[in-house]
This record gives sequence, structure tokens and C-alpha cells, in this order.
Amino acid sequence: MRIIRTKNYDDMSKKAADLIASVILLKPNCVLGLATGSSPIGTYKNLVKMYKDGNLDFSQVKSVNLDEYKGLPRDNEQSYYYFMHDNLFSHVNIDLKNTHLPNGMEKNSEKACKEYDEVIASMNGVDMQLLGLGHDGHIGFNEPNSFFDKTTHCVNLTQMTIEANKRFFASIDDVPKQAYTMGIGTIMAAKMVIMVVSGKDKSEILKKSFFGPVTPEVPASILQFHPNFILVADEDALSLIE
Ligand code: GLP
Repeated sequence: MRIIRTKNYDDMSKKAADLIASVILLKPNCVLGLATGSSPIGTYKNLVKMYKDGNLDFSQVKSVNLDEYKGLPRDNEQSYYYFMHDNLFSHVNIDLKNTHLPNGMEKNSEKACKEYDEVIASMNGVDMQLLGLGHDGHIGFNEPNSFFDKTTHCVNLTQMTIEANKRFFASIDDVPKQAYTMGIGTIMAAKMVIMVVSGKDKSEILKKSFFGPVTPEVPASILQFHPNFILVADEDALSLIE
């Protein structure tokens, strides 16, 4: 595990974007595993700027997203489909045919998960997986559990996650209670994993995840075993680490 300590959110976003840009420069037809949430928004802004400045080409890039709420249509502003288009896909020259998210509108969970695992398998490996960190240690929507889920599955979101995500919805009742998420096995199979973490409110879970025991009760802790894991975190998020 490598830690890149940054001054603040903007610095974190710039450094994470530089790392991702280097993946694209080295392999123009790379497969990017992408994430949503407030943590990677700045990273995407920097990538869009690099594209607009003529320094980055997404024309051959393929992407698979981590997760999607179950039951939200794509045109719902809180769907991750909407988020990805709003924050990245609409602003760069990625071919939309090469972008993938779980189908949140598929009611049959088994079918939705199987189909998404087939999409991931057809990519022949994820070159770089971007992650944020949930307050309960979740990655994607892999919530604390008694075991590590390997492949795409349907999860019941924890109360803590529903609470954390309610800020994006009109009321807590509007927050979906379930989601489809890539499994821990798929995340761990990525050749490189980059996690962006910012803010004092993440300092405790960051410490627990990367300086405590590896346990499915803290899903992100498994990343301690990833051979190429880069944590890009700001001073506030790292404030409990000496
Ligand atoms: C969400 C997402 C995660 C994200 C996490 C943290 O529930 N499913 O992929 O990393 O919560 O979000 P944020 O970056 O807004 O703190």
C-alpha cells in the first residue's frame, strides 16, 4: 500500500487525476473501474480539464462502474448512471458504448448481477479501479458483512449509508434501500486500485481500514492485501495517522 498525502481535497483530486491520466497515456485502450460519490468529483473535473486542454484522449477507453441503486431510472438525477454522465462521460470523448454500469432497473437481482459479471468478464481485466470510502468502511456498496462477497450482488444498504446519502435526496424515504454492487473479488482483481479520501469525518474509518485488522466487518481493509493499492488522502483524512 502506498499513501500519497495531499494538502486538501483539490490537491487530492489533482494527484488522483494525474495517476489516472498516466494509466490512459500508457494504455489508451485501458479499462477504468469508476466510482461515484462526492470524493471523486474533483478527480473527474481534473480529467475533463486535461481532455479539454488536448492532453488526454478517451476515445478507446472502456469503463465499468462499481455500483448502481436498485430501482432508480437512469434519468433520475441521483442514479449513478446520471452522475457519471453529468460528471465525466458528457464532457470527454469516451464512446458511450464502452461505458457500463449495473442495470438498476432490472428487478430480478440474479439476472442483473449475472449480466454485469458477464460485462466485467468481457473486459479481460480492469487496469485501474477508482474507489471512495464509505463511513462504515464500504467500498462500492460492499457493506460490512461476515464475509467478503466476491462477485456482483444485490445489497441492503445499512442505515448509516442511507443516512449519509440522504443529503442527495428530497427526503430519507426517497433513498433507495438496495443497490447492485461489484464484489470485493472483482475489486481486488483490478491491476491497480486508487482510493480518494478527504475530510476529518473519514479519519476514523481510514485508520480502521488501513491500520487495523483485515476483516469483512470493515470491507475496505481487504485492500491492505492488494499488491498495487494507492491511497490518495488529504491531511484531514490522515489526521489520526502518525
Ligand atoms: C457511496 C458510494 C461509494 C462511495 C461512498 C462514499 O455510497 N456507493 O462508492 O465511495 O458512498 O461517498 P462520498 O465520497 O460521497 O463520501
